[in-house]
Amino acid sequence: MPVVSYEMVDEIGVIRVDNPPVNALSHAVRAGLLNAIESAQLDDSQAILIICTGRTFFAGADISEFGQPAKEPYLPDLLNAIESSNKVVIAALHGTALGGGFETALASHYRCALDTAKVGLPEVHLGLLPGAGGTQRLPRLAGAQASLDIMTSGKPFGAAKAAELGIVDRIIDGDLESGALGYAKELIAESAPTRRVAELTVDPKTASREMFAAYRKNIGKRARGQIAPFKIVDCVQAAVELPFADGMKLERQSFADCMASPQSAAMRHMFFAEREAAKVKDVSKDTPLRPIQTVGIIGGGTMGGGIAMNFANVGIGVKLLEINDEALARGMSIVEKNYSITMKKGKLSSEQVAECLALISGTTSYDDLADVDLMIEAVFENLDIKKEVFSKLDAVCKSGAILATNTSYQDVNQIANATKRAQDVIGLHFFSPANVMKLLEIVRADKTADDVIATCMKMAKSIRKVPVLSGVCYGFIGNRMLNKYFREAQLCLLEGASPEQIDNAMQSWGMAMGPMAVGDLAGLDIGYKARQGIPADQLGDQKIWAVADALVELGRLGQKSGSGYYQYDAETRARNNDPAVVKVVEEKAAEFGVERRNINDEEIVNRLIFALVNEGAFILEEGIAQRSGDIDVVYVYGYGFPAARGGPMQYADQIGTKTVYDAVIQFGKDHNPDHWTVAPLLERLAKDEATFSEWSAA
Ligand code: 3HC
Ligand code: NAI
Repeated sequence: MPVVSYEMVDEIGVIRVDNPPVNALSHAVRAGLLNAIESAQLDDSQAILIICTGRTFFAGADISEFGQPAKEPYLPDLLNAIESSNKVVIAALHGTALGGGFETALASHYRCALDTAKVGLPEVHLGLLPGAGGTQRLPRLAGAQASLDIMTSGKPFGAAKAAELGIVDRIIDGDLESGALGYAKELIAESAPTRRVAELTVDPKTASREMFAAYRKNIGKRARGQIAPFKIVDCVQAAVELPFADGMKLERQSFADCMASPQSAAMRHMFFAEREAAKVKDVSKDTPLRPIQTVGIIGGGTMGGGIAMNFANVGIGVKLLEINDEALARGMSIVEKNYSITMKKGKLSSEQVAECLALISGTTSYDDLADVDLMIEAVFENLDIKKEVFSKLDAVCKSGAILATNTSYQDVNQIANATKRAQDVIGLHFFSPANVMKLLEIVRADKTADDVIATCMKMAKSIRKVPVLSGVCYGFIGNRMLNKYFREAQLCLLEGASPEQIDNAMQSWGMAMGPMAVGDLAGLDIGYKARQGIPADQLGDQKIWAVADALVELGRLGQKSGSGYYQYDAETRARNNDPAVVKVVEEKAAEFGVERRNINDEEIVNRLIFALVNEGAFILEEGIAQRSGDIDVVYVYGYGFPAARGGPMQYADQIGTKTVYDAVIQFGKDHNPDHWTVAPLLERLAKDEATFSEWSAA
């Protein structure tokens, strides 16, 4: 079957595209569309309709073709041919008309859409800008300001808003094809003109030089080093100030520059890595799933409340169990407070919040959990308490219920063995704040059944999380690696860097927050308590946590106590450097015989990031992570790693595994050889000049 077909329906030439799964504008689709549009010029049709079958209108250019030599017809040329048609062209949208798909609609003369359709230009998430006329046509229809918001955020929006902005001309109720044919007939009857967006000018009320300058300044704050958002602003300004053809030239050059950048390569890697991560190599995609209609959560603290919100937000009822009425009331009030923040931000209406809250009920009795399909334990991080909870769950939960733990570090096998149904036990490691962070580590224990894994992968998507499978080890993928990253941050501190220098170096490199600020936000007492539980002979190098522990002992727990690595203003929460911290650091350096020196930012960044990569290499070879891309997904979605660098393993692939290996060897020579045991996989890849992603794909 050809991916593009053409037929006459009454007096309308219907171009129908069928390229599953998302009708990406592959070479075959572009060639078919050009052929059809050219044929339609020559026949008796009085209007041309472009419509797609399956789940969506074109979801964009075919991303899998990027990075390969482009083949004619190129998308911008095809869209010019559509716009130049002498017969009226109507695009009929459903599903997600994104990127090149939306640009195809913009090049058509009229647009109709189902009210459920969404449109958008998400190229910025791939390190790109719209490259088939989007930067030039959208401002001519919707104005400069709205277009900048749409393109720099990359967020899709609904047909109703598109209609308000003058992008969609007609919303169709019911069947799209018959509605679109009816609309086409109306246009024919009215002798509607071929209405070419390229011939319009941008509404001057929506654009001024000051507005562009302010936009650039604003983007500088949030783009975290990305180049595409700035190029989008340049192109939209060109749409205002230059003729269409000149604007198109700038767009084409800017698109090519972005496409050739390591940033876009990294972000395209992330696109596919995120989708790969949801696939479990040895679990068939046809594995029958267990139904999840009700969820139980044990522990309504920081995590339990946030986890409950994820399910209530998608209409799933939650039973929240706490140790007593007081703890339950406290847990429920945290949930209510979080919802009121969400409401204030305009993300949910008061009615929606009321509906969500009505779905969360509290209890202090295990008997109320007998019928739930999925249990998630989020009690204190203590193995004995967790085992006790699981043995109680084993006694009350119905057969087939999935029993999950949100532990950050504990051994999921031991937790599973506290039940007589280890096959039903799994780790579901949410990240804080659990109602916001997108990552979900799904921890497979030795006996976890395939259908439990498959069900949790599917469940994660249904609550809008990005799932990654991890094996069992201390800290799983993310926290195990983070430990090494924090180790280097602590050692840089002892050796001479200030908290501010470390945070600034990491943030300038692209991390969402620096490690010291993260410590203060999470609370320094958490790590302190965890270390108290580890026998002294297993603590390792005592100097690593000497400063952190000393700060806790001084009552500096981080933001919650008003001071940690920084001093926090009680009202504004603004952070300030604190000489008291420098004093602690100097004392600890002297105590452990560490000579303080000037450390440059490059050394800080390399030590912290390469510590992640080296541990990631161990994790990969041990089979804890399925692929290097999974580790990248963990870091971008769970730890604020810059997407434009593609995660730690992709970053290592880009700069060369040999570069990382050489640096790790050198760090071992220069400082603390015990900490820099090079991962055998990193060594082999460096010698072969190979990449983690090649190794993962082999
Ligand atoms: N090109 C190639 N493959 C694509 C694709 C695209 N544009 N969009 C999705 N796919 C593939 C996915 O890789 C996945 O493949 P898999 O099943 O083998 O893993 C499959 O289609 C289904 O995708 P999802 O799992 O993401 O399905 P969802 O239903 O969750 O989401 C979607 C559908 C909203 C369309 C989402 O896939 C998406 O956001 N796609 C990307 C859209 C995009 O970025 N478009 C712009 C492309 S760049 C461009 O157009 C440049 C132009 O300006 C010149
Ligand atoms: P928390 O201390 O805020 O909440 C724990 C809650 O569990 C308390 O409300 C307590 O009353 C309740 N609880 C304790 N024992 C109980 C029992 N036997 N039965 C019922 N309820 C009981 O702890 P937090 O931070 O929510 O952590 C919970 C789990 O989530 C831990 O395993 C932790 O490692 C993990 N986690 C924590 C993250 C964080 O950033 N806080 C991130 C990811 C995971």
